[in-house]
Amino acid sequence: MLFSLRIYSFIIGLSAAFEVRAPNRQVVAFYRQTVVLGCSYTPNRDSGLGGLVVTWQRVDDSRVVHSFYYEKDQLDRQSPSYKNRTGLFHSELATGNASLRLVQIQPEDSGHYLCSVSSLQGTDKVDVQLIFAAFYTEPRLTVQVHCSNVSFRYESKGYPEPEVWWIDSEGRNLSHHTEVSSSKEDDGLLFLQTNLELDRSIGANLTFTLKNRLINQVIERPVSFSNAGLGYCTNSPRNRLALLLPPLLLLCFIVALIWNHWKKS
Ligand SMILES: *[C@@H]1O[C@H](CO)[C@@H](O)[C@H](O)[C@H]1NC(C)=O
Ligand SMILES: *[C@@H]1O[C@H](CO)[C@@H](O)[C@H](O)[C@H]1NC(C)=O
Ligand SMILES: *[C@@H]1O[C@H](CO)[C@@H](O)[C@H](O)[C@H]1NC(C)=O
Ligand SMILES: *[C@@H]1O[C@H](CO)[C@@H](O)[C@H](O)[C@H]1NC(C)=O
Ligand SMILES: *[C@@H]1O[C@H](CO)[C@@H](O)[C@H](O)[C@H]1NC(C)=O
Repeated sequence: MLFSLRIYSFIIGLSAAFEVRAPNRQVVAFYRQTVVLGCSYTPNRDSGLGGLVVTWQRVDDSRVVHSFYYEKDQLDRQSPSYKNRTGLFHSELATGNASLRLVQIQPEDSGHYLCSVSSLQGTDKVDVQLIFAAFYTEPRLTVQVHCSNVSFRYESKGYPEPEVWWIDSEGRNLSHHTEVSSSKEDDGLLFLQTNLELDRSIGANLTFTLKNRLINQVIERPVSFSNAGLGYCTNSPRNRLALLLPPLLLLCFIVALIWNHWKKS
């Protein structure tokens, strides 16, 4: 149908072929930032905005993201998930710019968007993919010293799943345990936890590296650990309690004695 419409316009010589194009078919959008999904169409010098229909829709479920016709925004059928977050560049609309501005980017915004434009000259559409990304936050280090080993843990949040490695001072990769989980309370960002355990008897100079390849983010942190001055060792929480118990009992006893004495006098 589209094809025949084009042939028709060509035959009656209304204009050159009407076309809708996207400068970038894939756009990376950052968490809580604003993004512009570019879309342009062959403008008509004479008719202005009359007869122009611009619709932005999600490809996967046809949700309406934004629409424009009768020379104004038409947001009655806009999906609630896009409410107050979209806009067109009205001053440039007549010159062929149907780009969409989307603010407060969230992980759920990732996906394919269809930019459809109809004018008196024809109708066409183009697909633009929004790729969601979030910079990983400053990683938080936790060090736990046990009897036989030391464990290092880094925690951070971002998107998408990063590459993580730990290397020793000779540049060897150390085996570690890394978990990435999706956390609801952080707006759908990924929560990263990576653990490394080392024998306590040796000191170590390590480097932790996190790489978010999609957005060229690299976080590199040196970690130094010296075993000097860590002599005393209690094996388990129960042992610690056992060590604390006698002084506590003694204290209670003394308090009871004083109380007794004070009451009598
Ligand atoms: C449309 O206009 C906006 C605002 O001036 C600009 O950022 C964008 O690059 C334009 N897009 C196209 C496809 O011309
Ligand atoms: C959108 O903005 C209007 C007016 O500022 C406000 O009343 C409404 O609650 C907002 N809706 C959402 C979903 O943010
Ligand atoms: C490290 O020490 C902790 C506490 O003593 C223990 O639970 C853990 O299994 C140890 N890890 C290794 C690899 O020995
Ligand atoms: C260590 O592992 C990372 C990721 O798996 C890899 O990119 C890097 O080249 C490795 N380094 C060495 C020295 O093997
Ligand atoms: C770590 O680096 C420090 C300072 O450069 C050095 O004194 C120490 O011997 C190193 N430790 C190990 C285990 O390589």
